[in-house]
Amino acid sequence: MTQIRSSQYTFFVTAARGTEAFASEEARALGAEILDVLPGGVSVRGPLELGYRLCLWSRVAQRVLLPIAHFQAATAEELYEAIRGLPWEEHLEVDTPFEVECTRAAESAIAHSHYAALKTKDAIADRFRSRMGRRPSVRRSGRRLTIHLYLKGCEASVSVDLSGEPLYKRGYRQHSGTAPLKETLAAALLYAASWPEYAAQGHPLVDPFCGSGTIAIEAATMALRIAPGLLRSHFGFLAWRQHDQQTWHALRAEARSRTLPANGRPPLIYASDCSANVLHQAHDAAKRAGVFPAIRFAQADARGLQPPPHSRPGLVLTNPPYGHRLSGDAIDELYAQFGDTLRHNFLGWTAFVFTGNLSAARHIGLRPTQRLPFWNGPIECRLLRFPIASTSVRGSGPRWRQQTREAATPKG
Ligand SMILES: C[S@@+](CC[C@H](N)C(=O)[O-])C[C@H]1O[C@@H](n2cnc3c(N)ncnc32)[C@H](O)[C@@H]1O
Repeated sequence: MTQIRSSQYTFFVTAARGTEAFASEEARALGAEILDVLPGGVSVRGPLELGYRLCLWSRVAQRVLLPIAHFQAATAEELYEAIRGLPWEEHLEVDTPFEVECTRAAESAIAHSHYAALKTKDAIADRFRSRMGRRPSVRRSGRRLTIHLYLKGCEASVSVDLSGEPLYKRGYRQHSGTAPLKETLAAALLYAASWPEYAAQGHPLVDPFCGSGTIAIEAATMALRIAPGLLRSHFGFLAWRQHDQQTWHALRAEARSRTLPANGRPPLIYASDCSANVLHQAHDAAKRAGVFPAIRFAQADARGLQPPPHSRPGLVLTNPPYGHRLSGDAIDELYAQFGDTLRHNFLGWTAFVFTGNLSAARHIGLRPTQRLPFWNGPIECRLLRFPIASTSVRGSGPRWRQQTREAATPKG
């Protein structure tokens, strides 16, 4: 199967485990026909403009791939022959550098992804050399086309990577912070917590363990309708031979015109952390993202934090430390004291705690009404939802401990 120039394309939107449903909802809202939601991504259909829209507007997608061929390849030689037979001249100018990235399922017949990528590069270069007498250069930085190869069993899928650099690289982060969340994961957590609906009704968001500010910055870009791709200067499709510059310019102009001013109203988003160093990084990133006036940053201990003065109840969405650098007792104590803070100071609010330490999370002392599974890189995490109402307070006796232990235990 090969996909050639047509008015309708199939795209594969890759998304981290646990975030596929949000990527699918976003794609639908951007006008896509949803073909399939799979572990790791969503297959969608629409015109080329949709591919650009996904790159510009999706907050959850990691990459937007344009599959161009799918075939059987049980060996590296079969892979080479099939790749060499594809019409690369339709996708790549001989003067455009390219790179090949390969991912493979555990059971793929070709055992080494690096070797498969090398064979793919050779096949593309050899096709150009035999037809045009010279080969495109291979480069890993600067403007280039990224070809994506996926191997599973004896099957290979080849795609043009329209996004190029993964889309979580928004362009506003310069420091790596203390265990920062990927921007795409932070956006999925905000969707899961219904932040867009809260923001539209003027309810505030508080992140008391904000670190480098990822949750707050992503929340602000949602509230201000800032397209996350507006800050990026490079996308893979800019080096693609079929790129339609006019459509891309029109979409960027449309996105700019939809952006709300960051200083047009009082901040709805409150972000604090006990570390001055990470707050400094958060300030920098928020300024680069153009959302600094929309966020009130403060250096504060999450234990004993008060809600913003005179504010209506809203959302607490936060990612406390998982405790790798703290003793078991210290991290349990931190979660217990934060739970006390929620119960005593945030009555009427809804709290979402994102953590990879489910044993510490039991010490929050509230019963989660929802436990959504996500992966933070290799760490299996849960987003725990705690409505803070007087009836949800379980006290500190054995009853809530037993209930929360059951609730926080991962199933399967
Ligand atoms: C997992 S990191 C948060 C990362 C953040 N979501 C990001 O994307 O950068 C946890 C943060 O909690 C902060 N922290 C630890 N104990 C705290 C406390 N008692 N009060 C406030 N912040 C605390 C740390 O400084 C760290 O920045």
